[in-house]
Amino acid sequence: MDDLEEDGIIFSTSKDVFYNPAMRLCRSMSSLAVGAIGEKLEVVDAFCASGIRGIRYAKENKNVKKLTSIDIDKRAIALAKKNAKANKLKASAVISNISRAAFEYDADFLEIDPFGTPSPYLVDAFRFFNTKKTAYLSVTATDVAVLCGGKTAACMKNYHSKPMNNEFTHETGLRIMLKKIAETAAEFNMGITPLISFSDKHYLKSVLMARRSADLAYDSLKQLGHVSFCDKCGFRSSGRFPDARCGNCSSAMDFAGPLWLGELHDAKFLKKMSALNTARKYADRDEIADMLVDMQGEAGMPAYFYNVHALCKLQQLKSVPKMDDILARLRKAGHKAVRTHFSPIGIKTDAPYSAVMEAIEWKS
Ligand SMILES: C[S@@+](CC[C@H](N)C(=O)[O-])C[C@H]1O[C@@H](n2cnc3c(N)ncnc32)[C@H](O)[C@@H]1O
Ligand SMILES: [Zn+2]
Repeated sequence: MDDLEEDGIIFSTSKDVFYNPAMRLCRSMSSLAVGAIGEKLEVVDAFCASGIRGIRYAKENKNVKKLTSIDIDKRAIALAKKNAKANKLKASAVISNISRAAFEYDADFLEIDPFGTPSPYLVDAFRFFNTKKTAYLSVTATDVAVLCGGKTAACMKNYHSKPMNNEFTHETGLRIMLKKIAETAAEFNMGITPLISFSDKHYLKSVLMARRSADLAYDSLKQLGHVSFCDKCGFRSSGRFPDARCGNCSSAMDFAGPLWLGELHDAKFLKKMSALNTARKYADRDEIADMLVDMQGEAGMPAYFYNVHALCKLQQLKSVPKMDDILARLRKAGHKAVRTHFSPIGIKTDAPYSAVMEAIEWKS
């Protein structure tokens, strides 16, 4: 058994129980989200492993009034109990399968952090909210190769959507995950509002608010659609249905979906998270601060971005213009244009394709 430290929390791990130090930023970001929600919360950490996630949420946020940690593995629960006690937390830790626990526990905030896809657990997740009008769901997906790759059959099977393996595949994958959550929520008469959604390293993450109302459930479903992409010229579009032909060169378009075309984040919520991040001394504070700024810029932007290198390669440009110059040209032409957390060489803009091409100085 080894003693470790993560952002000020001392805890033990063991070789039999999962712990990935590379997920520290994910845990910090989610803990900021717990704090930014502000309301008193009963938190259920349904795939707790060592318990570190729930322990951090409870230790770092005064609004966590109760923590229940659940894991199917008794060695994980023994460790989670030990770690909660060592951190002076009165948390309960229970050996259970999430599908069984869903009928026994209520949650205001539920953490779903399984190995791979969260898909089979989404129905279970919404059962934890059966007695709630409003609740919060935090979901991690590590099946990035399925959501963000060319594994169409696997994605159709798990998410009932077609993925697309191109330069903005991570955004597409995140939006496919949100679509599956919105559909499951709707079956429970709940509508969703993503508070923060992001792609980092080998995972996709979203924390969202779910509110019970048939109208809100239907409103969420109205935000589903498709993204289309022309691999001949780089034109892209989004809408309820895929576009068959490219709006620029008339070639056949590829498409992804159905997926979530609504907002990925709530800009006010991100501001609250930024303020909390400034006040905390997380090891990943600077990286988190930059990501939160980029995410705020993504509000109101299309459901895709432009990878500047990919565009220049496609158009056989000899040199790649500087990001800041492209952004400045787009803004000067009257368009909104921002960086995106999805890629250091990505631009989100409301400009039409022709204006983006002008901004990278491509001459047809
Ligand atoms: C990826 S780890 C969780 C990591 C943890 N949340 C963290 O941040 O360190 C997944 C955990 O889920 C547990 N698990 C797998 N299937 C489960 C199920 N059906 N119900 C509850 N726990 C399950 C595994 O035993 C494992 O400890
Ligand atoms: Zn085209």
